[in-house]
Amino acid sequence: MKILIIGGGNMGMTYAHAFFRSHITTKNDLMILEKSEEKWPELENLDIGTVCKQPEDCLAQADLVILAVKPQDSAALFEKIRPMVDPQQVFLSIMAGVKMKTIAQGIGANKIIRAMPNLPAQIGMGMTAFTSTDEVTRIELVMVQNLINTTGKSIYVDNETLIDAATAISGSGPAYVWFFMNALIQAARQMGFKESEAELLVSQTFQGAIDLFHQSDFSCEEWIKKVASKGGTTEAALHSFSQTALFQDVISGAEAAFHRAKELGN
Ligand SMILES: NC(=O)c1ccc[n+]([C@@H]2O[C@H](COP(=O)([O-])OP(=O)(O)OC[C@H]3O[C@@H](n4cnc5c(N)ncnc54)[C@H](OP(=O)(O)O)[C@@H]3O)[C@@H](O)[C@H]2O)c1
Repeated sequence: MKILIIGGGNMGMTYAHAFFRSHITTKNDLMILEKSEEKWPELENLDIGTVCKQPEDCLAQADLVILAVKPQDSAALFEKIRPMVDPQQVFLSIMAGVKMKTIAQGIGANKIIRAMPNLPAQIGMGMTAFTSTDEVTRIELVMVQNLINTTGKSIYVDNETLIDAATAISGSGPAYVWFFMNALIQAARQMGFKESEAELLVSQTFQGAIDLFHQSDFSCEEWIKKVASKGGTTEAALHSFSQTALFQDVISGAEAAFHRAKELGN
């Protein structure tokens, strides 16, 4: 299967590296179409696929086309490639907020898969939600999910609105985690730890809690109960969190992101 990635930027190259690392493609089967001339030598030096300068050089050969340009560049791209698109080609878009209907109309083809990855995809720890139009076959969908899974884990959703919801949870989510880590690092600093010590205390605590969660059947609430003994330190912190309604604040924050994702999609 020949794969063409359009947009050799952060996300496009995250995918290219992940495919290459996992041996799911060979460099003969991977093409990267990049507009910026100054990026061509760097992409060529990576030696993980053929670097193309014009869609005329590569689009027709591709079975799968990955759209990895910024959403604001999508309309110009669609206009350029539309005359060359074969309706049998499968398109995987990772562009935030660009609906499958808009893509289908823009390129004049109906086999569209829309995915929302997140930043940890860079290290193979990403989380992606994806959906597709009815025209994509089961086999094509499995093939694309295997490719997506080289960047981490994924879930298929039936409803495109859930892509906006995933944007609010897993897409923006790493920033929420870093927000909480930052607050805890600050607290540790105020208690007397050095910056590097504070970062280690906090990052290893997050890592350990997440790994423990993964390796058990307990819910978050059950784990909290295990740590928070009556009259103890954890209970004091939890009591303070409940007084400031932090739990509800986090839900409201995610809802604000969901609302914004829907707004941007319109
Ligand atoms: N970064 C993330 O964490 C993340 C997460 C989820 C989804 N996404 C989505 O991933 C997409 C790419 O984001 P990014 O951060 O990788 O952007 P990026 O680094 O700017 O990469 C996009 C690349 O595409 C090139 N390009 C633009 N129009 C083109 C065209 N017509 N033909 C070929 N190449 C073209 C751009 O060149 P110029 O620089 O010359 O414009 C740029 O090199 C976005 O739609 C974004 O919503 C990103």
